[in-house]
Amino acid sequence: MGETRVNRNPPDPPLFYRAHLFVCCNRRPEGHARGSCAAKGSDDVRAYMKARVKELGLRGVRVNQAGCLDRCELGPCLVVYPEGVGTASQAGMRQRE
Ligand code: FES
Repeated sequence: MGETRVNRNPPDPPLFYRAHLFVCCNRRPEGHARGSCAAKGSDDVRAYMKARVKELGLRGVRVNQAGCLDRCELGPCLVVYPEGVGTASQAGMRQRE
């Protein structure tokens, strides 16, 4: 007969943030083959998102700086948790302009 496993770990705590957005702000030297999100305006993207979250009074939403998300050629890139959805935000920046 198979052994029954019992999970003795405590349950995970509730999520602290409803949505947590990480914007890649990695900067590589100019001319680097992969480029970098900072060179494509990710600092502006992050600042804009932070301002909008504050302006809209979105509770439980946090925007943070992240390192390289390994989608450098598509940047500026970000990922949203808990969904874990990533995106390149050039379209968003174009809409903003
Ligand atoms: S530099 Fe932003 S994903 Fe790599």
